[in-house]
Amino acid sequence: MAFPPAFLDELVARNPIEDVVGQYVTLRRSGSNLFGLCPFHGEKTASFSVAPDKGIFYCFGCHKGGSVINFQMEIEGMSYPDAVRALAKRAGMEVPGDEQYQSRYHQQERLWALHKEAARFFHSQLYAPVGEQALKYAMDRGMPKSILTKFGIGYAPDSWDALVKAMRQKGYTDEELQQSGLVTVSRKNGNLFDRFRDRLMFPIIDVRGYVIGFGGRIMKKDDSAAKYLNSPETLIFNKRKNLFALNFAKKSKLGYLILVEGYMDAIALHQYGFDCAVASLGTALTEDGAALLSRYTDQVVLIYDSDTAGQNATKRAIPILEKAGLQVKVLQVRDAKDPDEYLKKFGADKFKNLLEESANRVEYQLNAIRKKYDIREDDQKVKYLQECAELIATLPSAVRREVYGGRVAEDAKISMDAMQMEISRAYKRRTQREKKQQEKQSLAPARNHQPHSRSIRYDNVKSAMAEEQLLGQLFREPVLLDQIPELKPDQFSVPLFGRVFEQLTRRFREGMEISLGGLTDVTSEEMSHLAGILHSQTGPISEQALKDCVRTIQSEYEAGQVVSENDLLAVQKRMKERKGMKA
Ligand code: UTP
Ligand code: MN
Repeated sequence: MAFPPAFLDELVARNPIEDVVGQYVTLRRSGSNLFGLCPFHGEKTASFSVAPDKGIFYCFGCHKGGSVINFQMEIEGMSYPDAVRALAKRAGMEVPGDEQYQSRYHQQERLWALHKEAARFFHSQLYAPVGEQALKYAMDRGMPKSILTKFGIGYAPDSWDALVKAMRQKGYTDEELQQSGLVTVSRKNGNLFDRFRDRLMFPIIDVRGYVIGFGGRIMKKDDSAAKYLNSPETLIFNKRKNLFALNFAKKSKLGYLILVEGYMDAIALHQYGFDCAVASLGTALTEDGAALLSRYTDQVVLIYDSDTAGQNATKRAIPILEKAGLQVKVLQVRDAKDPDEYLKKFGADKFKNLLEESANRVEYQLNAIRKKYDIREDDQKVKYLQECAELIATLPSAVRREVYGGRVAEDAKISMDAMQMEISRAYKRRTQREKKQQEKQSLAPARNHQPHSRSIRYDNVKSAMAEEQLLGQLFREPVLLDQIPELKPDQFSVPLFGRVFEQLTRRFREGMEISLGGLTDVTSEEMSHLAGILHSQTGPISEQALKDCVRTIQSEYEAGQVVSENDLLAVQKRMKERKGMKA
């Protein structure tokens, strides 16, 4: 659904970017801009800036940027429409044509409230007579009362309808109970009954603090039932897009996040002072999960179970995390199955040692390769060295390639030179492979018309620079549009700039505000790009310089046209020749 442009203008005007950003970031004024620590990547010096007059934010470190709407999207992990709605709510504005959304939002609010009540109910049951065994179980597993309270841990009684009854009493309808996923419907008679029975309950809380689901652990040894039962996907719960304990971990001052496999691992880590631990929710780490992590940190320590399954999961998680721009370290627990068990066996100090030793992912992976081979055998040694070279060749830094290459050479007692040669051969193979792949991709027709897949490429740098400057000036002073020669959107060499120019001209003619926030059909990536350009714009340029920009754009466009007209002529000529040959 598209929002009316006039509404967006008012929304942007009524949510000054410095106020909205100021809710999350401490900003200090310096000249006409404000600066603070970037909330999107970890940093110690302020490279995050807000330009209130331009209505944009931009980070010189991670290059995220955009309007107040983009900020809202990034910081709360919201979709565009939800960010617009949140800002509308903040400014006390009605969102036009949003009745359908209102009802959906209302349903969500009811489900959040229901989950909160359910968590209260389960927690109270833990201390009721029916919860005696569960409380004992929790205590036996070394969870003190403070932790039970902090995580809101509870007990779902061994009953068919304890929760159903409690929630009906609070005024929730059967329909809402069904939507919550906390009950199931009997196929025989349509009655509702509790999904979680006789389980220790872990509330799953999202970053905003809403209870969105539960994990429930069985306490008896029973192989016929799943050890953990989790809430199904609902209107408010998506297990791939949430991480357990992130509501606490996001406030950690440790500067990194620890990612573990299980609820109990995350809880134990918090209990022992590692307040930066989160767990995925009964699923392998997803791209969404990695993106979520990258909003709060740039370094992740992976601590998965010490068994084969855990180590395989580690292998799979590394590239997903790195793709999200995260630095990865891997910690392998020894003499314990998982971090929970380790902490309870050996304590926080020992764990801290492990953490300090924890290898970066290259060391970890080199170790893993080492374990596969017996390098006393020559043929195995060769394979070992080759596999190491392949891995080391993936490192973009030459220094790191040299350092790790040296270590492997020393370990296998071969010359450093031989190893480096192997690595550079692997490196060349790799870059060639990548180049070929890129060529293939750029030749392939753009099949995907999803806006987020548009990338910003400068095919004609000379024109693109002129386009940047022109747009920067127009955003600053739209009336300049009256002073420049006529220019068509498709004369721009960068399609994004053409689209933006078109919107600017249209808005200008209709007497509307011109701001980044008012642009439509622009992805977050494109917004960041535009914000970067606007941000680097200094004062006004002369009218002559502005006209020069326009001329450059036009002449570069025409030059491009000539080439293709020549091409066209050449093609026509060739076709004629072929016809002639056949005839
Ligand atoms: P684990 O079995 O490793 O959990 O499963 P754990 O935390 O060590 O469990 P405890 O210590 O025995 O209580 C790891 C995670 O996988 C999911 C859960 O999210 C769990 O925390 N899981 C596991 C399920 O969803 N269902 C299952 O049946 C088992
Ligand atoms: Mn465990």
